[in-house]
Amino acid sequence: MPDLNGTLDPHIVRHMLACPVCGAGMQISGDGRSLVCTGARRHCFDGGGGGYVSLSPRHPGGGDAKEAVRSRSAFLERGYYQPAADALCGIVRELIPAGGAVLDAGCGEGYYSNRLAGEGYAVLGVDLSKYAADAATRTARRNRQRDPGSRTVFAVASVFDLPVQDGSADCVTSLFAPCAPAEFARVLKPGGFLIVAGAGAGHLMGLKRILYDDPYINQPRRDLPDDTHSLVLVDTRHVTFPLRVCGEADVQALFAMTPYYWRTSQEGKERLKGLDVLESEACFDFFIYRRKDRE
Ligand SMILES: C[S@@+](CC[C@H](N)C(=O)[O-])C[C@H]1O[C@@H](n2cnc3c(N)ncnc32)[C@H](O)[C@@H]1O
Ligand SMILES: [Zn+2]
Repeated sequence: MPDLNGTLDPHIVRHMLACPVCGAGMQISGDGRSLVCTGARRHCFDGGGGGYVSLSPRHPGGGDAKEAVRSRSAFLERGYYQPAADALCGIVRELIPAGGAVLDAGCGEGYYSNRLAGEGYAVLGVDLSKYAADAATRTARRNRQRDPGSRTVFAVASVFDLPVQDGSADCVTSLFAPCAPAEFARVLKPGGFLIVAGAGAGHLMGLKRILYDDPYINQPRRDLPDDTHSLVLVDTRHVTFPLRVCGEADVQALFAMTPYYWRTSQEGKERLKGLDVLESEACFDFFIYRRKDRE
């Protein structure tokens, strides 16, 4: 079991994490094996094998399965979505100063979280899948060998029940993951920013043309904040770039990380099999909200 002092940034632990049982602050235990809350009951949470921490007593075993995490990691590591990561980092740089605290809610295998940490932000990544948190922590550990200043914590928890202190985040990112506006508003500092990313109308149309006889364009997300959440929409950015996916393994990895994987007929799947090059357009919509100052 790795020493959590090597994987959990102590500043993020103290200033962002909250005990999921009693809401008190958190600290790394003296032997570095677990997190202990500062409340009277001293609730204790074990580190996972790779150095993430499990803070999800109410939602065990949820989130993406091992296979889904593996496909997405394989695809993202090949750099196909780097223009989206560059765009996200550019937006965050415009909004909050370097060193700010970012919560990546539904962080998956930490592709975007680790990029943001590389930009100098203190990043807490939360995902319901222990496989995702584990993969994210392993990447962060590798990155830290190159960049010892990179600061992250990855935890298993639900975005609907965040083990995060009120008003502790300068920015929350919710990228292709379930959106929990009430929780995001709670953990944001007044004046802080929420960035929600979703698939733009024409996202992966090239893939859908192969899978479906009559491909449809994507509808806007339905789980975006409304005006009951103390969050005000301040900007929307559309980021599009051409995608050329090379090799059957990469094409299948992309397919497996999309929702179409679950909705495509056997015939559609057969048409994709053996395809060596997929040309499509990637379209990402970024919705930027600002947390109202205290009313
Ligand atoms: C499509 S993936 C996106 C991952 C990452 N944000 C990215 O863009 O690469 C959605 C992620 O949300 C996670 N997830 C699903 N329900 C969740 C919940 N209630 N709380 C936290 N994470 C959740 C899944 O485990 C998965 O890793
Ligand atoms: Zn506690």
